[in-house]
Amino acid sequence: MQIFIDTANTEEIKKYYEMGFVDGVTTNPSLIAKENNKPFKKIIQEIVSIVNGPISVEATADKASEIVKQGIEYQKIHKNIVIKVVMNEEGLKAIKELNKKDIKTNCTLIFSANQALLAAKAGATYVSVFVGRLDDAGNEGIQVIKDTTQVFKNFGIKSKVISASIRNPIHVIESAKAGADVATIPFDVLDKMIKHPLTDKGIQKFLDDWKKVKK
Ligand code: E4P
Repeated sequence: MQIFIDTANTEEIKKYYEMGFVDGVTTNPSLIAKENNKPFKKIIQEIVSIVNGPISVEATADKASEIVKQGIEYQKIHKNIVIKVVMNEEGLKAIKELNKKDIKTNCTLIFSANQALLAAKAGATYVSVFVGRLDDAGNEGIQVIKDTTQVFKNFGIKSKVISASIRNPIHVIESAKAGADVATIPFDVLDKMIKHPLTDKGIQKFLDDWKKVKK
């Protein structure tokens, strides 16, 4: 399973990209808005200069024609940019048009396997299932990942399933077991995935014992 980092903060991206496990980045308007008024284009330019992999940038227009225009503009920033398009009627039309122009898309705000199927049929490169928000609403987010990966497998659908809106390390491992192609993970969850109290205890013991060894 590929790991994307779900943030627009370049310090967080740098920190984890250096560790070698980050394959790409996803942003959204809310994540960009957290970056203290830093200009949008500057943020994206910095991210593409750090990470050599797919970087999702969300189109914010309502109408399909406007989404397509934004998509073409964003793609000019860097070839690795993937256009995030919301899951609705206009979004589906835009995905179809962007696909015709060979521009990669990530259909976002997906909450059912049916939505994922339609986005894939429209030509989405990625479909982002919001696992955490489903759980928050009393649904089973991971079940939607399982359903989507099964449907895509049954019909040889090439769109990649992103497990998004990840809230904890269990979401990550359950997404991997369910066959998600990608998990896009916020920095605090990545931090929890790296650390384990028994690892820290083990490191301390090895260091203490090493001090006792005659050198
Ligand atoms: C996906 O690409 C989104 O950026 C993200 O996972 C949304 O997660 P949230 O529910 O934590 O806002």
